[in-house]
Amino acid sequence: MNKKIAVLPGDGIGPEVTAVAVNALQRVAEKFNHTFTFEEGLVGACAIDATGNPFPEETLHLCQSADAILFGAIGHPKYDNDPTAPVRPEQGLLAMRKALGLFANIRPVNTFKVLADASPLKREIVEGVDFVVFRELTGGSYFGAKGRSEDRNSAYDTCTYTRDEIARITELAFTAAAKRRKKVTLVDKANVMETSRLWREVVQQYAANFPDIELELMFVDNAAMALIQNPRRFDVILTENMFGDILTDEASVITGSLGMLPSASVGSKVALYEPIHGSYPQAAGKNIANPMAAVLSAATLLETSFDLMAEGQALRNAVEEALNNGFVTVDINPTHHLGTREVGEKICSFV
Ligand code: IPM
Ligand code: MN
Repeated sequence: MNKKIAVLPGDGIGPEVTAVAVNALQRVAEKFNHTFTFEEGLVGACAIDATGNPFPEETLHLCQSADAILFGAIGHPKYDNDPTAPVRPEQGLLAMRKALGLFANIRPVNTFKVLADASPLKREIVEGVDFVVFRELTGGSYFGAKGRSEDRNSAYDTCTYTRDEIARITELAFTAAAKRRKKVTLVDKANVMETSRLWREVVQQYAANFPDIELELMFVDNAAMALIQNPRRFDVILTENMFGDILTDEASVITGSLGMLPSASVGSKVALYEPIHGSYPQAAGKNIANPMAAVLSAATLLETSFDLMAEGQALRNAVEEALNNGFVTVDINPTHHLGTREVGEKICSFV
């Protein structure tokens, strides 16, 4: 198979973990006789530094011409405490999601046996957790009208959703549930928000056609609690943009390390794969970041965009083998750890 992969390393630890994922993909290509070509582009703070634009036109074209996108992370502390910055790295990510029509962010949460004691939750709560969050990614208050009043003493972020925006991600969530444990939990705030009531209407209508899939309705505050008390109860969580942003960060700590979780953003055409951990600027350039989430993102890329299931599994097995043999970074083992590159070499050797 011949494929072109756009590589957007981004900021912070993005370049280090992405480099490992690219090596791992190369290794897979050699082993399974594929040709993957990699082309790099700028996004985020590094793109602002180089071009003034957090998502340059050139990067957009690169993404549109690729068969899949491998993304690292964006963000830089110099923008975090400056509410007046005219351009921000995050705008690059949001513009990219919108421009590429990436309307669904898929974040699986499952546990690794050897990490059960690394979770802040008790082993008996964490063991066997296996759910996936479908977060709407191009609507809601992230993209609604926002601004200030003339005297600048009031501000607003409008949350809007259309039936179509809700329906298309609902379809993806139900399709996933049909192949899993056949349960969808719609998370909303329908006791307060009109948009949530529209979500309920659309999702309930859709669910009526799938009687073998259980639809559960849950308020977001209650879901925040249930994720900690009994995360095993979830199979597929379906939710809007902002709720999904918050709940997926919460969900990520269940596994014991934020450095283990991949994600996929999908839409109409090309899909994007990224670790969920963000740019972690304090660790940038130190060769300490965990590359496993990036490699698992690459595995998801192979499976989802190229339908290369055995190849994806080979990467997953390699990560598992490194993990089980203690070839891990400091976030997983503070006393016996390797660096990002060294863990990467081990993973590649296990492919
Ligand atoms: C994420 C991030 C982004 C979001 C930020 C960086 C804009 O937190 O991918 O979850 O809020 O969507
Ligand atoms: Mn987030």
